[in-house]
Amino acid sequence: VYKRATPTTLPSFLLLGPSGAGKTAFLTLTERRAVAAAPTHTSTSPLTIQALLPDSFTPESAHFRSPGDPAYERARRFLLVDTPGHGKLRHFATGQLVNPTHVCGIVFVVDAASVAEEAGLNEAAEYLHDVLLSLQKRYTNAKTSKGPREIPVLVAANKLDLFTALPPHLVKIALEKAVSDVRKSRAKGLKDSGVAMGGEDDGVDEEREWLGGGGEGPFEFRQMDEVGTSVVVKGGNVLGGDGADVRGWLEWIAEQL
Ligand code: GTP
Ligand code: MG
Repeated sequence: VYKRATPTTLPSFLLLGPSGAGKTAFLTLTERRAVAAAPTHTSTSPLTIQALLPDSFTPESAHFRSPGDPAYERARRFLLVDTPGHGKLRHFATGQLVNPTHVCGIVFVVDAASVAEEAGLNEAAEYLHDVLLSLQKRYTNAKTSKGPREIPVLVAANKLDLFTALPPHLVKIALEKAVSDVRKSRAKGLKDSGVAMGGEDDGVDEEREWLGGGGEGPFEFRQMDEVGTSVVVKGGNVLGGDGADVRGWLEWIAEQL
């Protein structure tokens, strides 16, 4: 009989994204299982908490079990790893991506009102580009023929309670376009710095630094499917007058458990 080994470490989800997006707010909401998040201030170090999927969500691996079954209850547990979003503190986040053995998924939080403006959009896109590129490299560098375990990405479009927030489908379009631009300027930067001058090896290097398949055309999140990373965008709000709404994100987490 095939038996799943009892995991010794809980599946963990990395919270990434620019400063001020709402990562720590989401963490406190999930931890307290409350209707409101605790007040936060900018994070300077990573923070891991153990969380429990709320009763109204079913972990994907436990669909055929009933609540109360020990295996069902075990499957509801996961870790949330909060990271500082400030540009100078990103090493905490990128460090987590070097050897993501227990990383079950990445929640990339963006402020949907801030990405409605160019500066906010560019900051989010640069960070997202680098995260996706490191996932792509992990996949293409893998020695096994099966490829490494997939690490899906949820782009959590937060702060939908603000009237200036872009709706999630527009957040997706705006980010894809901005990531395309980042990709182009990074490639140009490589060329200008002389890294990619002459020689065939350099051509290969250039290819390694190019995010997504699909050649020179626009970047789309679905190009990441080919390198073992699905990217979806879902809206929500951690705060707001009518209370928090993070159902879409918890549903996505449940699908990965
Ligand atoms: P760093 O720690 O700097 O990386 O930022 P962070 O992503 O952890 O942001 P944080 O959770 O501290 O939230 C930043 C600010 O946004 C706080 O003042 C939150 O109260 C506010 N905020 C978070 N989520 C929401 C939301 O859904 N709606 C509104 N209106 N404000 C939010
Ligand atoms: Mg924080």
